[in-house]
Amino acid sequence: MNRPLADAPADSPSVTSAVPPAVLSANGNFDVNAVRRDFPVLSRSVYGKPLVYLDNAATTHKPLAVLEAMDRFYRTSNANVHRGVHRLSMDATNFYDEARRVLHKFFGTAIGCEIIFTRGATESLNLVAQSYGGSVLREGDEVLLTWMEHHSNIVPWQMVCARTGAKLRPIPILDDGSLDMDAYRSMLSERVKVVAVTHVSNALGTVNPIAEISRLAHDVGAVVVVDGAQAAPHMPVNLRELGVDFYVAAGHKMYGPTGIGILYGRADLLERMPPWQGGGDMILSVSFEKTVYAQPPQKFEAGTPPIAEAIGLAAAATYLMNLGMSEIHRHEQHLLRTLTERMAEVPGLRILGTAPQKAGVVSFVMDCAHPHDIGQILDGEGVAVRAGHHCAQPVMQRFGIPATTRVSLGLYNTDAEFDALIGALHKVRRMFA
Ligand code: ALA
Repeated sequence: MNRPLADAPADSPSVTSAVPPAVLSANGNFDVNAVRRDFPVLSRSVYGKPLVYLDNAATTHKPLAVLEAMDRFYRTSNANVHRGVHRLSMDATNFYDEARRVLHKFFGTAIGCEIIFTRGATESLNLVAQSYGGSVLREGDEVLLTWMEHHSNIVPWQMVCARTGAKLRPIPILDDGSLDMDAYRSMLSERVKVVAVTHVSNALGTVNPIAEISRLAHDVGAVVVVDGAQAAPHMPVNLRELGVDFYVAAGHKMYGPTGIGILYGRADLLERMPPWQGGGDMILSVSFEKTVYAQPPQKFEAGTPPIAEAIGLAAAATYLMNLGMSEIHRHEQHLLRTLTERMAEVPGLRILGTAPQKAGVVSFVMDCAHPHDIGQILDGEGVAVRAGHHCAQPVMQRFGIPATTRVSLGLYNTDAEFDALIGALHKVRRMFA
Protein backbone atom coordinates (compact mmCIF):
# COMPACT_ATOMS: atom_id res chain seq x y z
CA MET A 1 0.00 0.00 0.00
CA ASN A 2 1.23 3.51 -0.70
CA ARG A 3 1.14 5.69 2.35
CA PRO A 4 0.79 9.45 2.36
CA LEU A 5 4.12 11.14 3.07
CA ALA A 6 4.75 11.41 6.77
CA ASP A 7 6.74 14.36 8.08
CA ALA A 8 10.20 13.22 9.10
CA PRO A 9 10.28 12.75 12.87
CA ALA A 10 12.50 15.32 14.57
CA ASP A 11 15.23 12.76 15.33
CA SER A 12 15.37 11.46 11.72
CA PRO A 13 18.54 12.71 10.07
CA SER A 14 18.14 14.09 6.55
CA VAL A 15 20.12 12.59 3.65
CA THR A 16 21.35 15.91 2.40
CA SER A 17 22.09 17.75 5.64
CA ALA A 18 24.84 15.20 6.26
CA VAL A 19 26.67 16.10 3.03
CA PRO A 20 29.45 18.56 3.89
CA PRO A 21 29.47 21.93 2.15
CA ALA A 22 31.70 22.29 -0.89
CA VAL A 23 35.41 22.70 -0.42
CA LEU A 24 36.49 25.84 -2.21
CA SER A 25 39.87 27.49 -2.54
CA ALA A 26 40.59 30.78 -0.73
CA ASN A 27 39.31 32.79 -3.71
CA GLY A 28 36.01 30.89 -3.75
CA ASN A 29 36.83 28.66 -6.74
CA PHE A 30 36.67 24.92 -7.14
CA ASP A 31 39.69 23.47 -5.28
CA VAL A 32 40.57 20.19 -6.96
CA ASN A 33 43.18 19.19 -4.39
CA ALA A 34 40.69 19.58 -1.57
CA VAL A 35 38.04 17.73 -3.61
CA ARG A 36 40.41 14.80 -4.12
CA ARG A 37 40.58 14.27 -0.37
CA ASP A 38 36.86 13.44 -0.45
CA PHE A 39 37.57 10.36 -2.61
CA PRO A 40 39.43 7.70 -0.57
CA VAL A 41 40.31 5.46 -3.53
CA LEU A 42 42.29 8.22 -5.23
CA SER A 43 45.04 7.96 -2.65
CA ARG A 44 45.83 4.33 -3.45
CA SER A 45 48.65 3.19 -5.66
CA VAL A 46 48.71 0.49 -8.32
CA TYR A 47 51.89 -1.48 -9.08
CA GLY A 48 53.67 0.93 -6.74
CA LYS A 49 52.63 3.98 -8.79
CA PRO A 50 50.04 6.61 -7.88
CA LEU A 51 46.64 5.78 -9.36
CA VAL A 52 45.73 8.08 -12.26
CA TYR A 53 42.08 7.31 -12.85
CA LEU A 54 40.97 8.38 -16.33
CA ASP A 55 38.08 5.95 -16.90
CA ASN A 56 35.26 8.12 -15.58
CA ALA A 57 32.93 7.44 -18.50
CA ALA A 58 32.88 3.78 -17.42
CA THR A 59 32.26 4.60 -13.79
CA THR A 60 33.19 7.29 -11.29
CA HIS A 61 34.54 7.01 -7.76
CA LYS A 62 32.44 7.82 -4.73
CA PRO A 63 33.02 10.66 -2.29
CA LEU A 64 32.90 10.06 1.46
CA ALA A 65 29.50 11.80 1.54
CA VAL A 66 28.04 8.93 -0.52
CA LEU A 67 29.84 6.14 1.33
CA GLU A 68 28.79 7.58 4.68
CA ALA A 69 25.15 8.22 3.68
CA MET A 70 24.70 4.58 2.61
CA ASP A 71 26.60 3.24 5.60
CA ARG A 72 24.53 5.40 7.97
CA PHE A 73 21.29 4.20 6.41
CA TYR A 74 22.20 0.54 6.86
CA ARG A 75 23.51 1.12 10.39
CA THR A 76 20.65 3.22 11.70
CA SER A 77 17.48 3.06 9.60
CA ASN A 78 17.47 0.02 7.32
CA ALA A 79 13.90 -1.01 6.49
CA ASN A 80 11.65 -1.42 3.49
CA VAL A 81 9.75 1.59 2.13
CA HIS A 82 5.98 2.18 1.80
CA ARG A 83 5.23 -0.99 3.77
CA GLY A 84 5.84 -0.92 7.49
CA VAL A 85 3.91 0.81 10.23
CA HIS A 86 7.06 0.98 12.28
CA ARG A 87 9.44 3.82 12.77
CA LEU A 88 12.36 2.43 10.75
CA SER A 89 10.13 1.94 7.73
CA MET A 90 8.81 5.47 8.04
CA ASP A 91 12.38 6.79 8.22
CA ALA A 92 13.38 4.74 5.16
CA THR A 93 10.32 6.02 3.28
CA ASN A 94 11.16 9.60 4.19
CA PHE A 95 14.74 9.16 3.01
CA TYR A 96 13.58 7.62 -0.24
CA ASP A 97 11.09 10.43 -0.88
CA GLU A 98 13.71 13.02 0.01
CA ALA A 99 16.12 11.39 -2.44
CA ARG A 100 13.58 11.86 -5.24
CA ARG A 101 13.12 15.54 -4.33
CA VAL A 102 16.90 16.02 -4.45
CA LEU A 103 17.05 14.53 -7.94
CA HIS A 104 14.21 16.81 -9.09
CA LYS A 105 16.25 19.76 -7.85
CA PHE A 106 19.45 18.49 -9.48
CA PHE A 107 17.77 18.19 -12.88
CA GLY A 108 15.68 21.38 -12.60
CA THR A 109 12.61 19.42 -13.60
CA ALA A 110 9.44 20.99 -14.90
CA ILE A 111 6.10 20.87 -13.15
CA GLY A 112 4.09 17.92 -14.44
CA CYS A 113 7.11 15.64 -14.69
CA GLU A 114 8.21 12.67 -12.66
CA ILE A 115 11.47 11.01 -11.72
CA ILE A 116 11.39 7.23 -11.54
CA PHE A 117 14.14 5.29 -9.81
CA THR A 118 15.32 2.34 -11.90
CA ARG A 119 18.26 -0.09 -11.62
CA GLY A 120 20.34 1.89 -14.12
CA ALA A 121 20.33 3.97 -17.29
CA THR A 122 20.00 0.83 -19.41
CA GLU A 123 16.88 -0.20 -17.54
CA SER A 124 15.46 3.32 -17.94
CA LEU A 125 15.93 3.15 -21.72
CA ASN A 126 14.41 -0.33 -21.88
CA LEU A 127 11.46 0.92 -19.86
CA VAL A 128 10.76 3.78 -22.30
CA ALA A 129 11.34 1.63 -25.39
CA GLN A 130 9.11 -1.20 -24.24
CA SER A 131 6.40 0.71 -22.44
CA TYR A 132 6.16 3.92 -24.50
CA GLY A 133 7.52 2.55 -27.78
CA GLY A 134 5.68 -0.74 -27.43
CA SER A 135 2.34 0.98 -26.95
CA VAL A 136 2.54 3.73 -29.60
CA LEU A 137 4.67 2.39 -32.45
CA ARG A 138 2.95 0.88 -35.49
CA GLU A 139 4.12 -0.47 -38.83
CA GLY A 140 5.38 2.41 -40.98
CA ASP A 141 6.37 4.56 -37.99
CA GLU A 142 9.99 5.57 -37.60
CA VAL A 143 12.37 5.79 -34.66
CA LEU A 144 15.35 8.08 -35.28
CA LEU A 145 18.53 7.59 -33.35
CA THR A 146 22.13 8.53 -34.07
CA TRP A 147 25.25 6.76 -35.24
CA MET A 148 26.91 7.73 -31.95
CA GLU A 149 24.50 5.92 -29.61
CA HIS A 150 25.66 3.53 -26.92
CA HIS A 151 24.26 0.03 -27.46
CA SER A 152 21.81 0.70 -24.62
CA ASN A 153 20.06 3.31 -26.76
CA ILE A 154 20.07 1.10 -29.87
CA VAL A 155 19.22 -2.46 -28.90
CA PRO A 156 16.02 -1.71 -26.89
CA TRP A 157 14.69 0.24 -29.91
CA GLN A 158 15.65 -2.55 -32.30
CA MET A 159 13.75 -4.98 -30.10
CA VAL A 160 10.60 -2.85 -30.02
CA CYS A 161 10.83 -2.11 -33.76
CA ALA A 162 11.03 -5.85 -34.48
CA ARG A 163 7.88 -6.33 -32.41
CA THR A 164 5.85 -3.45 -33.82
CA GLY A 165 7.02 -3.19 -37.43
CA ALA A 166 8.39 0.34 -36.92
CA LYS A 167 11.61 1.28 -38.70
CA LEU A 168 14.87 2.31 -37.05
CA ARG A 169 16.79 5.05 -38.88
CA PRO A 170 20.20 6.29 -37.71
CA ILE A 171 21.08 9.98 -38.15
CA PRO A 172 24.59 10.27 -39.63
CA ILE A 173 27.52 12.00 -37.97
CA LEU A 174 30.12 14.26 -39.56
CA ASP A 175 33.85 13.57 -39.70
CA ASP A 176 34.52 15.59 -36.54
CA GLY A 177 31.96 13.53 -34.64
CA SER A 178 29.19 16.17 -34.65
CA LEU A 179 25.66 15.13 -35.44
CA ASP A 180 24.71 15.95 -39.04
CA MET A 181 21.88 18.36 -38.25
CA ASP A 182 21.03 18.91 -41.94
CA ALA A 183 20.54 15.17 -42.35
CA TYR A 184 18.46 15.14 -39.17
CA ARG A 185 16.18 17.89 -40.48
CA SER A 186 15.74 16.04 -43.77
CA MET A 187 14.84 12.79 -41.99
CA LEU A 188 12.07 14.35 -39.90
CA SER A 189 8.52 13.70 -41.02
CA GLU A 190 5.19 12.82 -39.50
CA ARG A 191 6.23 9.16 -39.63
CA VAL A 192 8.82 9.84 -36.91
CA LYS A 193 7.32 9.00 -33.52
CA VAL A 194 10.47 8.85 -31.40
CA VAL A 195 13.86 10.58 -31.55
CA ALA A 196 16.29 8.78 -29.23
CA VAL A 197 19.60 10.55 -28.86
CA THR A 198 22.54 10.71 -26.52
CA HIS A 199 23.30 14.01 -24.80
CA VAL A 200 27.06 13.25 -24.77
CA SER A 201 28.72 10.50 -26.78
CA ASN A 202 30.62 8.09 -24.53
CA ALA A 203 32.98 7.20 -27.40
CA LEU A 204 33.63 10.63 -28.96
CA GLY A 205 32.72 13.17 -26.29
CA THR A 206 30.42 15.08 -28.66
CA VAL A 207 27.79 17.18 -26.88
CA ASN A 208 24.59 17.16 -28.92
CA PRO A 209 22.35 20.26 -29.21
CA ILE A 210 19.49 18.68 -27.29
CA ALA A 211 17.23 21.75 -27.05
CA GLU A 212 17.32 22.19 -30.84
CA ILE A 213 16.94 18.47 -31.53
CA SER A 214 13.97 18.47 -29.22
CA ARG A 215 12.31 21.53 -30.77
CA LEU A 216 12.64 20.07 -34.29
CA ALA A 217 11.27 16.68 -33.17
CA HIS A 218 8.30 18.30 -31.47
CA ASP A 219 7.49 20.20 -34.68
CA VAL A 220 6.65 16.84 -36.29
CA GLY A 221 4.94 15.47 -33.18
CA ALA A 222 7.74 13.09 -32.15
CA VAL A 223 8.71 12.34 -28.57
CA VAL A 224 12.35 12.90 -27.53
CA VAL A 225 14.24 10.39 -25.39
CA VAL A 226 17.70 11.47 -24.22
CA ASP A 227 20.46 9.27 -22.83
CA GLY A 228 22.08 11.62 -20.33
CA ALA A 229 24.42 9.08 -18.72
CA GLN A 230 27.56 10.92 -19.87
CA ALA A 231 26.18 14.44 -19.44
CA ALA A 232 24.56 14.60 -16.00
CA PRO A 233 27.84 14.23 -14.03
CA HIS A 234 29.76 16.78 -16.11
CA MET A 235 27.62 19.83 -16.92
CA PRO A 236 24.54 21.64 -15.67
CA VAL A 237 21.49 19.77 -16.99
CA ASN A 238 18.26 21.70 -16.72
CA LEU A 239 15.47 19.54 -18.06
CA ARG A 240 12.98 22.40 -18.11
CA GLU A 241 15.25 24.29 -20.51
CA LEU A 242 16.08 21.26 -22.68
CA GLY A 243 12.39 20.56 -23.20
CA VAL A 244 12.81 16.80 -23.62
CA ASP A 245 10.10 14.22 -22.95
CA PHE A 246 12.28 11.54 -21.35
CA TYR A 247 15.81 11.75 -19.92
CA VAL A 248 17.85 8.98 -18.31
CA ALA A 249 20.94 9.00 -16.12
CA ALA A 250 23.10 6.44 -14.30
CA GLY A 251 23.83 6.74 -10.57
CA HIS A 252 27.31 5.25 -10.73
CA LYS A 253 28.49 7.69 -13.38
CA MET A 254 27.29 10.57 -11.16
CA TYR A 255 29.64 9.65 -8.28
CA GLY A 256 26.80 7.64 -6.72
CA PRO A 257 26.37 3.87 -6.31
CA THR A 258 25.80 1.20 -8.94
CA GLY A 259 22.37 -0.41 -9.19
CA ILE A 260 20.41 2.80 -9.57
CA GLY A 261 19.41 5.02 -12.47
CA ILE A 262 16.77 7.59 -13.07
CA LEU A 263 14.13 8.03 -15.70
CA TYR A 264 12.65 11.49 -15.99
CA GLY A 265 9.43 11.66 -17.97
CA ARG A 266 6.45 13.85 -18.72
CA ALA A 267 3.70 12.85 -16.32
CA ASP A 268 1.01 12.86 -19.02
CA LEU A 269 3.02 10.35 -21.09
CA LEU A 270 3.87 8.22 -18.05
CA GLU A 271 0.21 8.11 -17.05
CA ARG A 272 -0.78 6.77 -20.47
CA MET A 273 2.05 4.22 -20.62
CA PRO A 274 1.44 0.64 -19.47
CA PRO A 275 3.50 -0.57 -16.51
CA TRP A 276 6.78 -2.18 -17.40
CA GLN A 277 7.02 -4.70 -14.58
CA GLY A 278 4.27 -5.92 -12.27
CA GLY A 279 4.53 -6.59 -8.57
CA GLY A 280 4.18 -5.03 -5.17
CA ASP A 281 4.24 -1.26 -4.65
CA MET A 282 3.06 -0.41 -8.20
CA ILE A 283 -0.64 -1.02 -7.53
CA LEU A 284 -3.56 0.57 -5.74
CA SER A 285 -5.50 -2.68 -5.47
CA VAL A 286 -5.23 -6.26 -6.74
CA SER A 287 -7.91 -8.89 -7.16
CA PHE A 288 -8.08 -11.84 -9.52
CA GLU A 289 -10.62 -9.91 -11.59
CA LYS A 290 -8.85 -6.57 -11.82
CA THR A 291 -5.70 -4.76 -10.77
CA VAL A 292 -5.66 -0.99 -10.44
CA TYR A 293 -2.23 0.52 -10.93
CA ALA A 294 -0.74 3.29 -8.84
CA GLN A 295 0.06 6.64 -10.40
CA PRO A 296 3.60 7.33 -11.67
CA PRO A 297 6.25 7.20 -10.35
CA GLN A 298 5.08 4.19 -8.26
CA LYS A 299 3.50 2.58 -11.32
CA PHE A 300 7.02 2.01 -12.68
CA GLU A 301 8.71 1.00 -9.42
CA ALA A 302 7.56 -2.59 -8.86
CA GLY A 303 9.11 -4.46 -5.97
CA THR A 304 11.50 -3.22 -3.32
CA PRO A 305 13.33 -0.30 -4.91
CA PRO A 306 17.06 0.42 -4.58
CA ILE A 307 16.60 2.30 -1.29
CA ALA A 308 20.16 2.66 -0.05
CA GLU A 309 21.23 3.41 -3.61
CA ALA A 310 18.65 6.22 -3.91
CA ILE A 311 20.02 7.66 -0.67
CA GLY A 312 23.59 7.36 -1.98
CA LEU A 313 22.62 8.96 -5.28
CA ALA A 314 20.90 11.84 -3.48
CA ALA A 315 24.07 12.35 -1.42
CA ALA A 316 26.10 12.37 -4.67
CA ALA A 317 23.73 14.86 -6.33
CA THR A 318 23.91 17.09 -3.25
CA TYR A 319 27.70 16.86 -3.28
CA LEU A 320 27.74 17.89 -6.96
CA MET A 321 25.29 20.75 -6.36
CA ASN A 322 27.41 21.98 -3.43
CA LEU A 323 30.47 22.07 -5.69
CA GLY A 324 28.38 23.65 -8.46
CA MET A 325 27.82 21.96 -11.82
CA SER A 326 29.04 25.08 -13.65
CA GLU A 327 32.30 24.97 -11.67
CA ILE A 328 32.71 21.27 -12.41
CA HIS A 329 32.06 21.89 -16.09
CA ARG A 330 34.57 24.76 -16.19
CA HIS A 331 37.22 22.60 -14.52
CA GLU A 332 36.67 19.66 -16.88
CA GLN A 333 36.69 21.93 -19.96
CA HIS A 334 40.04 23.30 -18.82
CA LEU A 335 41.33 19.72 -18.41
CA LEU A 336 39.99 18.77 -21.84
CA ARG A 337 41.80 21.68 -23.55
CA THR A 338 45.07 20.91 -21.75
CA LEU A 339 44.83 17.19 -22.48
CA THR A 340 43.99 17.71 -26.17
CA GLU A 341 47.04 20.00 -26.56
CA ARG A 342 49.34 17.60 -24.76
CA MET A 343 48.19 14.60 -26.77
CA ALA A 344 49.12 16.46 -29.96
CA GLU A 345 52.74 16.15 -28.69
CA VAL A 346 52.64 12.37 -29.17
CA PRO A 347 53.69 11.36 -32.68
CA GLY A 348 51.37 9.01 -34.57
CA LEU A 349 48.42 9.65 -32.25
CA ARG A 350 45.04 10.58 -33.75
CA ILE A 351 42.04 11.76 -31.76
CA LEU A 352 38.58 10.61 -32.82
CA GLY A 353 35.92 13.18 -32.11
CA THR A 354 36.93 16.79 -32.46
CA ALA A 355 33.49 18.40 -32.44
CA PRO A 356 33.37 22.03 -31.28
CA GLN A 357 31.19 21.09 -28.32
CA LYS A 358 32.80 18.27 -26.37
CA ALA A 359 32.74 16.84 -22.86
CA GLY A 360 35.85 15.36 -21.22
CA VAL A 361 36.25 12.29 -23.40
CA VAL A 362 39.33 11.79 -25.60
CA SER A 363 39.24 8.67 -27.76
CA PHE A 364 42.34 7.99 -29.80
CA VAL A 365 44.24 5.54 -31.96
CA MET A 366 48.00 5.24 -32.44
CA ASP A 367 49.61 4.09 -35.67
CA CYS A 368 52.03 1.80 -33.80
CA ALA A 369 49.86 -0.16 -31.34
CA HIS A 370 46.47 -1.74 -30.79
CA PRO A 371 44.18 0.03 -28.27
CA HIS A 372 44.30 -2.94 -25.88
CA ASP A 373 48.11 -2.94 -25.88
CA ILE A 374 48.05 0.79 -25.19
CA GLY A 375 45.60 0.25 -22.34
CA GLN A 376 47.85 -2.41 -20.82
CA ILE A 377 51.01 -0.31 -20.99
CA LEU A 378 49.13 2.60 -19.41
CA ASP A 379 47.82 0.32 -16.68
CA GLY A 380 51.38 -0.71 -15.85
CA GLU A 381 52.12 2.98 -15.24
CA GLY A 382 49.13 3.33 -12.91
CA VAL A 383 46.97 5.03 -15.56
CA ALA A 384 43.43 3.59 -15.86
CA VAL A 385 41.70 4.07 -19.24
CA ARG A 386 39.28 2.02 -21.32
CA ALA A 387 40.14 0.27 -24.58
CA GLY A 388 37.65 -1.31 -26.97
CA HIS A 389 34.52 -0.35 -28.83
CA HIS A 390 32.99 1.27 -25.73
CA CYS A 391 29.62 -0.42 -26.36
CA ALA A 392 29.25 1.86 -29.37
CA GLN A 393 30.16 -0.38 -32.30
CA PRO A 394 28.34 1.74 -34.94
CA VAL A 395 30.65 4.68 -34.09
CA MET A 396 33.65 2.44 -34.69
CA GLN A 397 32.13 1.27 -37.99
CA ARG A 398 31.53 4.91 -38.97
CA PHE A 399 35.24 5.66 -38.54
CA GLY A 400 36.40 2.33 -40.00
CA ILE A 401 38.24 1.13 -36.89
CA PRO A 402 37.58 -1.75 -34.48
CA ALA A 403 38.43 0.06 -31.26
CA THR A 404 39.99 3.08 -29.57
CA THR A 405 41.73 3.84 -26.33
CA ARG A 406 39.64 6.28 -24.33
CA VAL A 407 40.61 8.78 -21.66
CA SER A 408 37.58 10.12 -19.81
CA LEU A 409 37.77 12.89 -17.24
CA GLY A 410 36.07 13.49 -13.93
CA LEU A 411 35.82 16.34 -11.48
CA TYR A 412 38.83 15.12 -9.43
CA ASN A 413 41.35 14.93 -12.29
CA THR A 414 44.26 17.36 -12.44
CA ASP A 415 46.62 18.71 -15.09
CA ALA A 416 49.49 17.08 -13.19
CA GLU A 417 48.03 13.62 -13.80
CA PHE A 418 48.52 14.08 -17.54
CA ASP A 419 52.31 13.82 -17.03
CA ALA A 420 51.91 10.12 -16.21
CA LEU A 421 49.55 9.60 -19.16
CA ILE A 422 51.72 11.37 -21.72
CA GLY A 423 54.85 9.68 -20.36
CA ALA A 424 53.15 6.29 -20.75
CA LEU A 425 52.07 7.11 -24.33
CA HIS A 426 55.69 7.91 -25.20
CA LYS A 427 56.62 4.56 -23.67
CA VAL A 428 54.07 2.88 -26.00
CA ARG A 429 55.84 4.50 -28.95
CA ARG A 430 59.25 3.38 -27.75
CA MET A 431 57.98 -0.18 -27.35
CA PHE A 432 55.91 -0.56 -30.53
CA ALA A 433 57.01 2.02 -33.12
N1 ALA B 1 28.95 3.05 -20.91
C1 ALA B 1 30.15 2.95 -20.15
C2 ALA B 1 31.35 3.39 -20.91
O1 ALA B 1 31.25 4.12 -21.85
C3 ALA B 1 30.33 1.62 -19.54
O2 ALA B 1 32.45 3.01 -20.56
